[in-house]
Amino acid sequence: MKVFVAGAAGAIGQQLLPQLTALGHQVTATTRSPGKAAMLREVGAEPVVVDGLDAVAVGEAVARAEPEVVIHQMTSLAGVFSLRRFDNMFALTNRLRTEGTDHLLAAASAAGVRRFVAQSYTGWTNIRDGGPVKTEGDPLDPSPPAMQRESLAAIRHLERAVPAAAPMQGIVLRYGSFYGPGASEAFVDLIRKRRVPIISDGAGVWSFLHIRDAAAATVAALEQGAPGVYNVVDDEPASVAEWLPYVAQAVGAKAPRRVPAWIGRLAAGEVGVSMMTQIRGSSNAKAKRELGWQPGWPSWREGFSRGLADAEPALGGA
Ligand SMILES: NC(=O)c1ccc[n+]([C@@H]2O[C@H](COP(=O)([O-])OP(=O)(O)OC[C@H]3O[C@@H](n4cnc5c(N)ncnc54)[C@H](OP(=O)(O)O)[C@@H]3O)[C@@H](O)[C@H]2O)c1
Repeated sequence: MKVFVAGAAGAIGQQLLPQLTALGHQVTATTRSPGKAAMLREVGAEPVVVDGLDAVAVGEAVARAEPEVVIHQMTSLAGVFSLRRFDNMFALTNRLRTEGTDHLLAAASAAGVRRFVAQSYTGWTNIRDGGPVKTEGDPLDPSPPAMQRESLAAIRHLERAVPAAAPMQGIVLRYGSFYGPGASEAFVDLIRKRRVPIISDGAGVWSFLHIRDAAAATVAALEQGAPGVYNVVDDEPASVAEWLPYVAQAVGAKAPRRVPAWIGRLAAGEVGVSMMTQIRGSSNAKAKRELGWQPGWPSWREGFSRGLADAEPALGGA
């Protein structure tokens, strides 16, 4: 199959491209940087240098590649981290999820693409009310912290636009919080330095996803699943109070500090307090059922203990 991967040189692209080429797919892979072209060629893809915010360039690149499937993996999150200024940290990613999605959808539609698979996110986006684990049928947060409003609006835009792109089949994959090779080194470093505290009761529920499982679900979505939105997470949503001490121990760190909410708010703002005390996790039942996908790392417990480098998963993924 001819596959066009927009945003192919990032953490997910580096796992996805080898899986695609190993299956014999013919992959066109984008980067903005000519310096990364060789790396893309090394894994068997045809590199193309294009900025996802340049509608004309995107249109030309997709038309030239004549793909059957387009995969949108464009985010701009490398090297930036500030929960206090969450929407600022996501500003370019938000443009890639709105304008970038629209340009790529228009290009794909003009080129007669059959299927369009786009990256979204699940976790802090869920409504912070009711039970601890949400499905795709539950609403997104109607009143997110002020500093997450723009980022949630961008996600809403992408999640509306992609499945509505008929006759193209639009699939949205809401990945959980990534960890694994290339995806969690900075986060693990903060945990090692005891700079990730449990705020208040640590009741916020997180859904993790090994980055290689994200790639496997994306490969499954090339052919499986009706247009719509899918949570792609592991089997074990867990509260911060549960996962953070375990992960700290697994990576050889001292036990995390515990701080009251008011100190957490000073350090990490309203978003930090929400992520540590209020957010909800996500169910992967729909993705398992309809994409025929299983996480190779079903629990973050084993994943953070053995899967941070390149260890093979216990179950081998699907
Ligand atoms: N679900 C999650 O938890 C989640 C999701 C995404 C990312 N992350 C995390 O965020 C961190 C950084 O992610 P990353 O390594 O994937 O880097 P990134 O900076 O988010 O880049 C991802 C991809 O998007 C492309 N891109 C960025 N801006 C673009 C633009 N204007 N036009 C076209 N393409 C553009 C990049 O291409 P270039 O080659 O041009 O740079 C790259 O291929 C990692 O730790 C990752 O785990 C987490």
